Amino acid sequence: MEETGTRSIEDKDVSRRKVFYFLGWGVMCLFFSAIGLSIARFFFPRLLYEPPTKYKIGFLSEFTLGVSEKFMKIKRIWVVREEDKLYVIKAVCTHLGCTPFWLASEGKFKCPCHGSGFTPDGVNIEGPAPRPLERVKVAMAEDGQIIVDESVKYRGERGQWGRPGSFISV
Ligand code: FES
Repeated sequence: MEETGTRSIEDKDVSRRKVFYFLGWGVMCLFFSAIGLSIARFFFPRLLYEPPTKYKIGFLSEFTLGVSEKFMKIKRIWVVREEDKLYVIKAVCTHLGCTPFWLASEGKFKCPCHGSGFTPDGVNIEGPAPRPLERVKVAMAEDGQIIVDESVKYRGERGQWGRPGSFISV
């Protein structure tokens, strides 16, 4: 009887040791898995896929004189055609970055946030906007379409609107 009692105490000790043994290994495995995952994440960082900044908008003949809102919703740009040139204005207010809208009846861009106004060529004329709207690069592709490249910007207050690439002669 005594032997049986001693054995059951030993059995309990052994099973307790086993529990701690497996628990220890479990914790170790979790720890190293977490480190492994962190290292794996380092090699595969989260990527933010943004829309391309360079794209075609069609042929010159598709744009008549004035401000075109054709790409306003999908690209947030206005295509402006004058008698002798065409250029593209980015629809981002130079005050705090809101999206202005084209007020055709008044012939100006108007920002709904704090009331800044801009002429059709993008010059700031009212409200808190400190500088003109920015223009982005335009060029002619080999197939005759207009290519816009938003990664290149031209700022009017810096005298960049006359630079090659800031407009297309028509
Ligand atoms: Fe346009 Fe303030 S963001 S006026």
